[in-house]
Amino acid sequence: MSTPKRLVIGMTGATGAVYGLRLLEVLRGLEDWETHLVVSSAGALNIRHELNMKRSEIHALANVAHDINDVGASIASGAFKTEGMIIAPCSMKTLAAVAHGFSDNLLSRAADVTLKERRRLVVVPRETPLNLAHIRNMAAVTEMGGIVFPPLPAFYGAAKTLAELIDESVGRMLGLVGIETAGLYTPWEGLKL
Ligand SMILES: Cc1cc2nc3c(=O)[nH]c(=O)nc-3n(C[C@H](O)[C@H](O)[C@H](O)COP(=O)(O)O)c2cc1C
Repeated sequence: MSTPKRLVIGMTGATGAVYGLRLLEVLRGLEDWETHLVVSSAGALNIRHELNMKRSEIHALANVAHDINDVGASIASGAFKTEGMIIAPCSMKTLAAVAHGFSDNLLSRAADVTLKERRRLVVVPRETPLNLAHIRNMAAVTEMGGIVFPPLPAFYGAAKTLAELIDESVGRMLGLVGIETAGLYTPWEGLKL
C-alpha cells in the first residue's frame, strides 16, 4: 500500500469557516490523502457561530487533529513530510504571523515550516476593506513563495448558488496544491455566446 500524501489544513478566526469545512469534506473522499488539521481558538469560535459545529465535530473530519498549543506536534517540524498547507479561512492576525515568521502557535509554526521547506502554502485571507498592513503582509507571503488566494467568487462561471461558488473556490484551492477534484466545479472553457 502506498503512503498517503499529507496536507495540513489550518482554520482561523476569520469569517468563512465553511471553506475549511468543505476542504476537509472533499479530502475525506480522497483515500490517498491524509489531512492534518489545526484550528485556532478564534477559529473554533467561528466554527461554532457559522457552522453550528463543535471543535470535536470538525476535528472528526480530519485524519489527524492537532491542538493549537502543541508546538511539539509532527507538523511543527520540517522533518515531517507534507505536500503543503492551506489556511482557510485565514485571519489578518494569522496572516501577519505567517508574514513575519512569528510562530507562537502550532498553526503559524506549521505555515512557517511549510515556507522554510519550500512547500506549497495557500493562504485564504478574508477581510474587507484592507489596510496597508494587510496588503503588505500578503505581499510578504507572496515574496516568500506562498500563494494568497482571497476567496472571491467568480460570477462568470457556471456556479450559481452560494454552495457552488464556495465549491468553486475550494476546487481551485485544492488545484493549487496539486489535487484535481473532478466535479467540484466546472472549469472555464471560454465564452459560449
Ligand atoms: C464572528 C467573527 C468574525 C470575524 N471575521 C474576521 C475576518 O473576516 N477577518 C479577520 O481577519 N478577522 C476576523 N475576526 C477576528 C479574528 O477572529 C481575531 O482577530 C482573532 O484574534 C484571530 O485569531 P486567529 O488568527 O488565531 O484565529 C472575526 C471575529 C469574529 C468573532
